[in-house]
Amino acid sequence: MSENSKVTELHERKAKTRLGGGADRIEAQHKKGRLTARERLDILLDRGSFREVDSFVVHRTSDFGLDQQKVPSDSVVTGWGTIEGRLVYVFSQDFTVLGGSLGEVHAEKICKIMDMAMKNGAPVIGLNDSGGARIQEGVVALAGYADIFLRNTLASGVVPQISAIMGPCAGGAVYSPALTDFIFMVKNSSYMFVTGPDVVKAVTHEEVSFEDLGGASVHAEKSGVCHVAADSEADTLYLIRKLLGYLPQNNMEDAPFVPTDDALRMDDSLDSIVPADPNKPYDIKDVIRPIVDGGQFFEIHENYAPNIVVGFARLGGHSVGIVANQPAVLAGVLDIDASEKGARFVRFCDSFNIPIITFEDVPGFLPGTFQEHHGIIRSGAKLLYAYCEATVPKLTVITRKAYGGAYCVMSSKHIRSDVNLAWPTAEIAVMGPDGAVNIIFRKELEKAADPLQRKAELVAEYREKFASPYVAAERGYVDDVIEPKETRPRLINALEMLSNKRDANPAKKHGNIPL
Ligand code: HXC
Repeated sequence: MSENSKVTELHERKAKTRLGGGADRIEAQHKKGRLTARERLDILLDRGSFREVDSFVVHRTSDFGLDQQKVPSDSVVTGWGTIEGRLVYVFSQDFTVLGGSLGEVHAEKICKIMDMAMKNGAPVIGLNDSGGARIQEGVVALAGYADIFLRNTLASGVVPQISAIMGPCAGGAVYSPALTDFIFMVKNSSYMFVTGPDVVKAVTHEEVSFEDLGGASVHAEKSGVCHVAADSEADTLYLIRKLLGYLPQNNMEDAPFVPTDDALRMDDSLDSIVPADPNKPYDIKDVIRPIVDGGQFFEIHENYAPNIVVGFARLGGHSVGIVANQPAVLAGVLDIDASEKGARFVRFCDSFNIPIITFEDVPGFLPGTFQEHHGIIRSGAKLLYAYCEATVPKLTVITRKAYGGAYCVMSSKHIRSDVNLAWPTAEIAVMGPDGAVNIIFRKELEKAADPLQRKAELVAEYREKFASPYVAAERGYVDDVIEPKETRPRLINALEMLSNKRDANPAKKHGNIPL
């Protein structure tokens, strides 16, 4: 073979790897409104930055006629590239090859790039489009998944791991994403289930569509498995690029510093945002946006447990994680889902050196048998544990209610928050005036000539005494009471003051968060 014909052979072989499961299957994928594995990587990564590895790898199975279906690359495309010039490792499952199913070599390819990501300290992004463990490969496929699960777990808190669900994903194809930090889904086109509708029907006789079993809206609103549901595949990939801008490459680094806005900017709208009537709602996002750089807030879990709001933003160019009670939904009460949502987000930020800013307006934990029977005690404890454990800079702004246990939980000074500020509208108390008066003055109210009149007087008295920030401020439980419009410069100043913060937890194997 001449030098030239060897190069020709290489070109032919490379061309074959790019065909995946063949033109017909690519067309079928396009007809479903979906892109191929390689097309997705072209959108996700900086142009021309993708370096594929293992494109010549083929599977080693001959059972069930698989020897007739050997495709170079097998059913996953792997390698590395850049996003905004920063290194990322990627895998993209190819549904056109055996339904993107995961056998021995598919797993080996993913493990190889995960090992490189850990060694070299860069995020891993997985684009999932797979029927799960390759049935024909039996236990070898299960072993492959277990190898990945182990790496997902060991990489957790070391490098950010992001999963996008781009098609129907079942079995291991959902459990590996479930171990990662963020799951993105495509509305009306991607699905996640442990077992598909056919299996559900066989076992439970229940007829259910892909969408109703595990569509993006199910997981973004009900189960909370999905963190971001996007309108299209391109949108999903664009949002992943955007999220990465807020994250460091690994747990030893800080997130990129990107100053874009005036650190001293004040927004007068904040001074009138909290209604005079403490029972009137307002939208906490109308507080967050005027405070953060450029009004840009990247929300996570937007439609799941919307009574708490979490997401990323920048303050004076520093990436921050925001956790905020949402008075516009259920008065901002903490329930099971909100507690778990907040806890997971706080732990992510703490793992990756991202300061946590808490906006607090919370009337307490949600009462009732449903919450008690489903474990609000355990779930609330998760949020408490997460805040207590976090050693990143923690800043708190109490905009209105900080009642009861929720006062302690929401990044209070007592659990190592660094700087706690209150607006003049803050009410810091064991409970709201109405409930408090009913309990401590029950006997007096029973005896009162005019119970309604007396109650109004007692409520006013209680409000005067406790429903203000000053009792807490007198004790140093809040560091300062500020005008709302000062919030942005004060937070940025505090972040800069804390830029060399060092804090640690006692040496231990690991804590035992109440899971
Ligand atoms: C081998 C598979 C496969 C699999 C799909 N295919 N899943 N091949 N192993 N797991 C093949 C199909 O045979 C088909 O091949 C092609 O991929 C496309 O699949 P379709 O069924 O035609 O596509 P669609 O109708 O879109 O349905 C997609 C699907 C469905 C919902 C993912 O294929 C499905 O339910 N697959 C099985 C899911 C599952 O139960 N997997 C095992 C999980 S166990 P042809 O040649 O006919 O086009 C597991 C354990 C891990 O993962 C451990 C967890 C802790």
